[in-house]
Amino acid sequence: MATETAKNFYLSTPIYYVNDAPHIGHAYTTVAGDVLTRWHRQKGEGVWFLTGTDEHGQKVMNTALKNGASPQDWCDRLVNEEWIPNWKHLNIANDDFIRTTEPRHMERVQRFLQGLKDNGFIYSGKYEGPYCIACEEFKLPGDLIDNKCPVHATTVEMVSEVNWFFKLSEFVPQLIERYKTDPSACEPASARNEVLSFLEGGVSDLSISRSTFDWGIPVPWDTDQVFYVWFDALLNYATAVGLGDDPTSEGGKKFASTWPADVHLVGKDILRFHAVIWPAMLMAAGLPLPKKVFAHGWLLVGGEKMSKTKLTGIAPRDITDHFGVDAFRYYFLRAIPFGTDGSFSWEDMGARYTSELANDFGNLASRLTAMVEKYCDGLIPAVATEEGLSGALAETVRISDAAICALDFQGGINAIMEFCKRVNGFVTEKEPWIVAKDETRVAELNAILYNTAESLRAMAVLFNSIMPETAKKLWRSLGADISIGDIGAQKIENVAQWGQLPAGSAVSKGAILFPRLEEK
Ligand code: MSP
Repeated sequence: MATETAKNFYLSTPIYYVNDAPHIGHAYTTVAGDVLTRWHRQKGEGVWFLTGTDEHGQKVMNTALKNGASPQDWCDRLVNEEWIPNWKHLNIANDDFIRTTEPRHMERVQRFLQGLKDNGFIYSGKYEGPYCIACEEFKLPGDLIDNKCPVHATTVEMVSEVNWFFKLSEFVPQLIERYKTDPSACEPASARNEVLSFLEGGVSDLSISRSTFDWGIPVPWDTDQVFYVWFDALLNYATAVGLGDDPTSEGGKKFASTWPADVHLVGKDILRFHAVIWPAMLMAAGLPLPKKVFAHGWLLVGGEKMSKTKLTGIAPRDITDHFGVDAFRYYFLRAIPFGTDGSFSWEDMGARYTSELANDFGNLASRLTAMVEKYCDGLIPAVATEEGLSGALAETVRISDAAICALDFQGGINAIMEFCKRVNGFVTEKEPWIVAKDETRVAELNAILYNTAESLRAMAVLFNSIMPETAKKLWRSLGADISIGDIGAQKIENVAQWGQLPAGSAVSKGAILFPRLEEK
């Protein structure tokens, strides 16, 4: 539970455009955020996990109008029928969901920007140049390929407007200094290098308002203009937790207990907005900067970024219908090093599902519960300690905790799966089904089964953030919900303490964690 007194671990995902339903690229970021925040909760920390939707701007407005809906109706429908249900379906445990059309956001944005204006960071000027609606980004002529956006391959529009500008260029030296002195502020290193070379190449001031359409937050001192959608959107991370509210109010207290954010999780496509514009806005307001912006890679289809604009989007349900929600959550984090691009393929997902989840993990659980049922009347035998396994577990917890906290999800999962393989090796080597035939070897049999069950107890806790439903199923099948308590209350730092599953815990047979694909 998040508390108001201590600083919470605060993590955000980008807020997604509601021009369409989520695809697996959006789900990739949100699941990663969910896994990391669940892990921190399981470390006993107060956590605040924010996601939401970015609803203003031309992209959303044009899509709404094309579909014969008002922008607000369109956003309401997509948020309520697509975005929120999709996150529920993927078992995302966010603490808040912000929509940029909510009054709590709009009012705080206006107040914040009025403050920047009053402090001399905003001035009027003329903007002329290309604009990509799919990126919602002002481009430089040199960014374009054949006059098209290089990311979306869409035609850009030429903008020529009198707008309000933010003195972004003033903050460039401070930003360079920050990324040079604190490498953890922008990760991975490839992302930081990209940001540094962008900053060192020179950055101009930024147009922060538009006057040719009205789907946005009105500029309070010039209501013929609305704020540029990115200026509005970036502020969500702070408006959602009470930016600018009186310190004694509920919002003010929330702000004190969450800000600055610990991690802004973003795809590499939106790194510059988060690592250049956003911290400059905060610097101008004299607010603390987020501790880390982490840019992950893209899910590729046919070698290119998967996107709805290019009609290559795959809906999460297309995959979960076949493999289940937990395999979906596991697969992308396991298969792709976080920070690099990766291609999705049904074949690779099917192969990993079968070999890692069904065979290595699922089979171990079903074999153990079947043997405890058969040889021990369904009750966990006396506590026994196999030093090799308990030592390996301690190392597994150390490695997986360090890796996951550093957003190396693949490293964390690999460590847990290595342990799983080791336990499988232990069972194969000890051959309990042969030991069971000899009545004089009961103690030996019981020790083998206890050590295997205790290893599974630990795996359930370690996999709880990644595959919460499966972990719960395993936990229940070991009888641990009754003999130990709620799985969510098990702390990472205690997982390696051997002997927690008590003798007599009632095991239930037949828990199939990952059904064979042909049976689904
Ligand atoms: N609305 C902006 C973000 C504003 S944050 C203040 C936006 N929205 S988006 O709907 O286009 O979503 C972008 C995010 O979705 C990416 O940064 C990334 O996290 C995720 N992804 C979208 N497509 C993706 C892939 N093909 N692969 C991986 N992640 C992708 O930009």
